[in-house]
Amino acid sequence: MFATASLSGTKPEQYAQLLAQARGLLHGERDRIANAANLSALVYHALPQLNWVGFYFFDGTELVVGPFQGLPACVRIPLDKGVCGAAARTRRTQRVEDVNAFPGHIACDSASRSELVVPLYDGDALIGVFDIDSPVPGRFDGDDQAGMEALARCFLDACALEAGVLEAGVLEAGVSP
Ligand code: SME
Repeated sequence: MFATASLSGTKPEQYAQLLAQARGLLHGERDRIANAANLSALVYHALPQLNWVGFYFFDGTELVVGPFQGLPACVRIPLDKGVCGAAARTRRTQRVEDVNAFPGHIACDSASRSELVVPLYDGDALIGVFDIDSPVPGRFDGDDQAGMEALARCFLDACALEAGVLEAGVLEAGVSP
């Protein structure tokens, strides 16, 4: 059983503790659905004042909802729409203090007031986005952005690192991948 410890100290210290928990949770697993599901649950239950935490994955055309915690969400988001589309398109984290003031914001849960979306890229390849919503306006600051970007990196590393290890093992065994 995975036991979560409550977070303490400054916000950067709390995110460092959360990152360590995430590393432990994702360690040894490269399945991106499994990792996305567990990371969503970890973050949703660890941080206060959130109403949605989850992933959208790029299917080659648009973003499609993946594992999440919160109310049911819109399934598909074109890259030219919403905060998620903006993060995916610009490759930059979108930290939105007031979602109602964001042109094209897509309201999945009417309770959402602020939002943070981290793009997920493997080199130049768009993987998807990691999205968190809050019912509190201006909920996310620079510490949250740095913390969520580190968690997103942890997710990408866990999924890719294990694939690399697997490939190396297959090559060593002399089997064509
Ligand atoms: N608000 C997002 C849509 C996804 S939900 O928040 C879960 C957007 O504007 O892209």
